[in-house]
Amino acid sequence: MKIVIKKDYVELSKFAALEVKNIVEDNPNCTLGLATGSTPLGLYKELIKLYNLGEINFSSVTTFNLDEYRGLNEEDEQSYKYFMNDNLFNHINIDKNNTFIPNGIAEDVERECENYEKLIGEKGGIDLQVLGIGMNGHIGFNEPNQELYLNTHLETLTEETLNSNSIFFTNKEKMPTEALTMGIGSIMKAKKIILLISGKNKAEVVKKLVSGKITTDFPASILQVHNDCTVILDEEAAALLNK
Ligand code: F6R
Repeated sequence: MKIVIKKDYVELSKFAALEVKNIVEDNPNCTLGLATGSTPLGLYKELIKLYNLGEINFSSVTTFNLDEYRGLNEEDEQSYKYFMNDNLFNHINIDKNNTFIPNGIAEDVERECENYEKLIGEKGGIDLQVLGIGMNGHIGFNEPNQELYLNTHLETLTEETLNSNSIFFTNKEKMPTEALTMGIGSIMKAKKIILLISGKNKAEVVKKLVSGKITTDFPASILQVHNDCTVILDEEAAALLNK
Protein backbone atom coordinates (compact mmCIF):
# COMPACT_ATOMS: atom_id res chain seq x y z
CA MET A 1 0.00 0.00 0.00
CA LYS A 2 1.48 3.31 -1.06
CA ILE A 3 0.71 6.44 0.98
CA VAL A 4 0.61 9.92 -0.50
CA ILE A 5 0.08 12.91 1.80
CA LYS A 6 -1.25 16.15 0.34
CA LYS A 7 -1.52 19.52 2.09
CA ASP A 8 -5.31 19.72 2.14
CA TYR A 9 -8.53 18.41 0.65
CA VAL A 10 -8.21 20.48 -2.55
CA GLU A 11 -4.71 19.14 -3.24
CA LEU A 12 -5.85 15.61 -2.42
CA SER A 13 -8.74 15.96 -4.88
CA LYS A 14 -6.47 17.35 -7.61
CA PHE A 15 -4.01 14.49 -7.17
CA ALA A 16 -6.83 11.93 -7.34
CA ALA A 17 -8.19 13.58 -10.50
CA LEU A 18 -4.78 13.25 -12.17
CA GLU A 19 -4.74 9.54 -11.28
CA VAL A 20 -8.10 9.15 -13.02
CA LYS A 21 -6.96 11.26 -15.98
CA ASN A 22 -3.87 9.09 -16.47
CA ILE A 23 -5.93 5.90 -16.53
CA VAL A 24 -8.43 7.35 -19.02
CA GLU A 25 -5.62 8.71 -21.20
CA ASP A 26 -3.84 5.33 -21.25
CA ASN A 27 -7.05 3.49 -22.07
CA PRO A 28 -10.04 5.56 -23.28
CA ASN A 29 -12.21 2.40 -22.99
CA CYS A 30 -11.33 1.87 -19.34
CA THR A 31 -13.70 0.90 -16.54
CA LEU A 32 -13.76 3.05 -13.42
CA GLY A 33 -15.14 1.97 -10.05
CA LEU A 34 -16.69 4.97 -8.30
CA ALA A 35 -17.70 5.90 -4.77
CA THR A 36 -20.23 8.32 -3.31
CA GLY A 37 -20.22 10.13 0.06
CA SER A 38 -18.52 13.43 0.91
CA THR A 39 -14.92 12.48 0.21
CA PRO A 40 -14.94 12.06 -3.60
CA LEU A 41 -16.94 15.28 -4.19
CA GLY A 42 -13.72 17.29 -4.65
CA LEU A 43 -12.39 14.70 -7.09
CA TYR A 44 -15.61 14.90 -9.14
CA LYS A 45 -15.38 18.72 -9.21
CA GLU A 46 -11.78 18.46 -10.47
CA LEU A 47 -12.79 15.94 -13.14
CA ILE A 48 -15.53 18.28 -14.36
CA LYS A 49 -12.94 21.09 -14.52
CA LEU A 50 -10.55 18.90 -16.53
CA TYR A 51 -13.39 17.94 -18.85
CA ASN A 52 -14.32 21.60 -19.40
CA LEU A 53 -10.69 22.35 -20.22
CA GLY A 54 -10.78 19.56 -22.83
CA GLU A 55 -8.22 17.54 -20.89
CA ILE A 56 -10.23 14.39 -20.34
CA ASN A 57 -12.70 12.54 -22.53
CA PHE A 58 -15.23 10.19 -20.94
CA SER A 59 -17.02 9.20 -24.15
CA SER A 60 -15.83 5.57 -24.09
CA VAL A 61 -15.48 5.15 -20.32
CA THR A 62 -17.60 2.69 -18.34
CA THR A 63 -18.28 3.15 -14.63
CA PHE A 64 -19.51 0.90 -11.84
CA ASN A 65 -20.53 2.40 -8.53
CA LEU A 66 -19.80 0.58 -5.31
CA ASP A 67 -23.23 0.68 -3.79
CA GLU A 68 -26.84 1.82 -3.64
CA TYR A 69 -29.37 2.10 -0.83
CA ARG A 70 -32.04 -0.57 -0.79
CA GLY A 71 -35.44 0.91 -1.54
CA LEU A 72 -34.40 4.17 -3.22
CA ASN A 73 -35.02 4.74 -6.90
CA GLU A 74 -32.99 7.01 -9.14
CA GLU A 75 -35.39 9.96 -8.82
CA ASP A 76 -34.84 9.96 -5.08
CA GLU A 77 -32.39 12.73 -4.25
CA GLN A 78 -30.79 10.55 -1.59
CA SER A 79 -30.11 7.68 -3.99
CA TYR A 80 -26.55 7.19 -5.13
CA LYS A 81 -27.74 7.10 -8.72
CA TYR A 82 -29.09 10.63 -8.29
CA PHE A 83 -25.88 11.64 -6.49
CA MET A 84 -23.68 10.43 -9.35
CA ASN A 85 -25.79 12.12 -12.04
CA ASP A 86 -25.92 15.34 -10.05
CA ASN A 87 -22.27 15.49 -9.01
CA LEU A 88 -20.55 14.04 -12.06
CA PHE A 89 -22.35 12.35 -14.95
CA ASN A 90 -24.62 15.31 -15.86
CA HIS A 91 -21.54 17.50 -16.30
CA ILE A 92 -19.26 15.35 -18.46
CA ASN A 93 -19.52 13.57 -21.81
CA ILE A 94 -20.06 10.09 -20.43
CA ASP A 95 -22.67 7.86 -22.10
CA LYS A 96 -25.12 7.21 -19.24
CA ASN A 97 -25.78 3.76 -20.73
CA ASN A 98 -22.24 2.95 -19.62
CA THR A 99 -22.75 4.04 -16.01
CA PHE A 100 -23.82 1.24 -13.69
CA ILE A 101 -25.10 1.34 -10.13
CA PRO A 102 -26.85 -1.54 -8.35
CA ASN A 103 -30.62 -1.18 -8.67
CA GLY A 104 -31.88 -0.29 -5.20
CA ILE A 105 -35.48 -1.18 -6.06
CA ALA A 106 -34.84 -4.53 -7.74
CA GLU A 107 -37.49 -7.02 -6.66
CA ASP A 108 -35.09 -9.93 -6.80
CA VAL A 109 -32.12 -8.52 -4.89
CA GLU A 110 -30.09 -11.70 -5.08
CA ARG A 111 -30.38 -11.83 -8.85
CA GLU A 112 -29.59 -8.09 -9.13
CA CYS A 113 -26.39 -8.64 -7.13
CA GLU A 114 -25.40 -11.67 -9.21
CA ASN A 115 -26.03 -9.78 -12.46
CA TYR A 116 -24.06 -6.77 -11.25
CA GLU A 117 -21.06 -8.91 -10.40
CA LYS A 118 -21.33 -10.71 -13.73
CA LEU A 119 -21.53 -7.45 -15.65
CA ILE A 120 -18.35 -6.12 -14.04
CA GLY A 121 -16.61 -9.29 -15.26
CA GLU A 122 -18.09 -9.01 -18.75
CA LYS A 123 -16.77 -5.45 -19.04
CA GLY A 124 -13.30 -6.75 -18.30
CA GLY A 125 -13.12 -5.87 -14.60
CA ILE A 126 -12.34 -2.54 -12.97
CA ASP A 127 -9.18 -0.72 -14.05
CA LEU A 128 -9.26 1.93 -11.35
CA GLN A 129 -11.38 1.76 -8.21
CA VAL A 130 -11.97 4.96 -6.24
CA LEU A 131 -12.72 4.35 -2.56
CA GLY A 132 -13.64 6.30 0.55
CA ILE A 133 -13.62 4.74 3.99
CA GLY A 134 -16.20 4.68 6.78
CA MET A 135 -15.41 5.53 10.40
CA ASN A 136 -15.68 1.79 11.15
CA GLY A 137 -13.33 0.81 8.32
CA HIS A 138 -16.03 -0.12 5.82
CA ILE A 139 -15.28 0.09 2.10
CA GLY A 140 -18.28 0.12 -0.16
CA PHE A 141 -20.85 -0.89 2.42
CA ASN A 142 -18.87 -3.91 3.60
CA GLU A 143 -19.45 -3.46 7.30
CA PRO A 144 -17.27 -4.99 10.04
CA ASN A 145 -18.46 -8.51 10.73
CA GLN A 146 -17.19 -12.00 11.52
CA GLU A 147 -17.32 -12.83 7.83
CA LEU A 148 -17.11 -10.59 4.79
CA TYR A 149 -18.70 -11.22 1.41
CA LEU A 150 -16.61 -11.62 -1.72
CA ASN A 151 -19.23 -10.52 -4.23
CA THR A 152 -21.97 -7.93 -4.63
CA HIS A 153 -24.60 -8.56 -1.96
CA LEU A 154 -27.21 -7.01 0.33
CA GLU A 155 -25.72 -5.57 3.50
CA THR A 156 -27.42 -4.40 6.68
CA LEU A 157 -25.94 -1.06 7.72
CA THR A 158 -24.48 -0.70 11.20
CA GLU A 159 -25.68 1.92 13.71
CA GLU A 160 -22.40 3.77 13.22
CA THR A 161 -22.87 4.00 9.45
CA LEU A 162 -26.52 4.99 9.82
CA ASN A 163 -25.46 7.79 12.17
CA SER A 164 -22.62 9.04 9.94
CA ASN A 165 -24.73 8.99 6.78
CA SER A 166 -27.85 10.45 8.35
CA ILE A 167 -26.44 13.94 7.63
CA PHE A 168 -27.54 13.43 4.03
CA PHE A 169 -31.15 12.72 5.01
CA THR A 170 -33.49 15.52 6.08
CA ASN A 171 -36.01 12.91 7.17
CA LYS A 172 -33.93 10.41 9.14
CA GLU A 173 -36.93 8.07 9.42
CA LYS A 174 -36.73 7.53 5.68
CA MET A 175 -33.09 6.49 5.68
CA PRO A 176 -32.72 2.95 4.33
CA THR A 177 -31.10 0.45 6.68
CA GLU A 178 -29.80 -1.82 3.92
CA ALA A 179 -27.70 -1.37 0.80
CA LEU A 180 -26.58 -3.38 -2.20
CA THR A 181 -22.80 -3.25 -2.31
CA MET A 182 -19.88 -4.66 -4.20
CA GLY A 183 -18.11 -7.22 -2.05
CA ILE A 184 -14.55 -7.27 -0.77
CA GLY A 185 -13.59 -9.58 -3.65
CA SER A 186 -15.20 -7.30 -6.25
CA ILE A 187 -13.09 -4.43 -4.87
CA MET A 188 -9.86 -6.40 -4.49
CA LYS A 189 -10.07 -7.57 -8.12
CA ALA A 190 -9.65 -3.97 -9.33
CA LYS A 191 -6.32 -3.56 -11.09
CA LYS A 192 -5.59 -0.31 -9.29
CA ILE A 193 -7.19 1.28 -6.22
CA ILE A 194 -7.06 4.81 -4.88
CA LEU A 195 -8.45 5.31 -1.38
CA LEU A 196 -9.17 8.93 -0.46
CA ILE A 197 -9.19 9.95 3.20
CA SER A 198 -9.61 13.51 4.39
CA GLY A 199 -10.01 15.39 7.66
CA LYS A 200 -8.96 15.07 11.26
CA ASN A 201 -11.98 12.94 12.20
CA LYS A 202 -10.49 10.19 10.00
CA ALA A 203 -6.97 10.30 11.56
CA GLU A 204 -7.70 7.31 13.86
CA VAL A 205 -9.13 5.41 10.91
CA VAL A 206 -5.90 5.95 8.98
CA LYS A 207 -3.87 4.69 11.92
CA LYS A 208 -5.92 1.48 12.02
CA LEU A 209 -5.68 1.08 8.25
CA VAL A 210 -1.90 0.84 8.31
CA SER A 211 -1.77 -1.29 11.46
CA GLY A 212 0.00 -4.17 9.71
CA LYS A 213 -2.86 -6.52 10.67
CA ILE A 214 -5.83 -7.72 8.67
CA THR A 215 -9.16 -8.15 10.41
CA THR A 216 -12.80 -8.45 9.34
CA ASP A 217 -13.51 -5.99 12.18
CA PHE A 218 -11.93 -3.36 9.96
CA PRO A 219 -12.69 -4.40 6.37
CA ALA A 220 -10.37 -1.86 4.71
CA SER A 221 -7.38 -3.57 6.36
CA ILE A 222 -7.47 -6.10 3.50
CA LEU A 223 -6.26 -3.33 1.16
CA GLN A 224 -2.82 -3.73 2.71
CA VAL A 225 -2.34 -6.81 0.51
CA HIS A 226 -3.57 -5.29 -2.76
CA ASN A 227 -0.60 -4.90 -5.06
CA ASP A 228 -1.53 -1.49 -6.48
CA CYS A 229 -3.36 0.48 -3.83
CA THR A 230 -2.56 4.14 -3.15
CA VAL A 231 -3.99 5.84 -0.08
CA ILE A 232 -4.27 9.57 -0.68
CA LEU A 233 -4.46 11.57 2.55
CA ASP A 234 -4.55 15.21 3.48
CA GLU A 235 -2.33 16.37 6.34
CA GLU A 236 -5.21 16.30 8.85
CA ALA A 237 -6.03 12.67 8.07
CA ALA A 238 -2.34 11.79 8.27
CA ALA A 239 -1.86 13.53 11.63
CA LEU A 240 -1.44 10.33 13.69
CA LEU A 241 0.95 8.58 11.33
CA ASN A 242 4.58 8.20 12.37
CA LYS A 243 6.59 10.51 10.21
C1 F6R B 1 -19.80 5.24 -0.75
C2 F6R B 1 -19.14 4.20 0.00
C3 F6R B 1 -18.69 4.37 1.40
C4 F6R B 1 -18.05 5.74 1.67
C5 F6R B 1 -17.69 5.88 3.14
C6 F6R B 1 -17.08 7.21 3.47
O1 F6R B 1 -20.11 4.80 -2.07
O2 F6R B 1 -18.98 3.15 -0.54
O3 F6R B 1 -17.79 3.36 1.74
O4 F6R B 1 -16.91 5.87 0.87
O5 F6R B 1 -18.84 5.70 3.92
O6 F6R B 1 -18.03 8.22 3.29
P1 F6R B 1 -17.61 9.75 3.40
O7 F6R B 1 -16.75 10.04 2.23
O8 F6R B 1 -18.94 10.48 3.31
O9 F6R B 1 -16.91 9.93 4.70
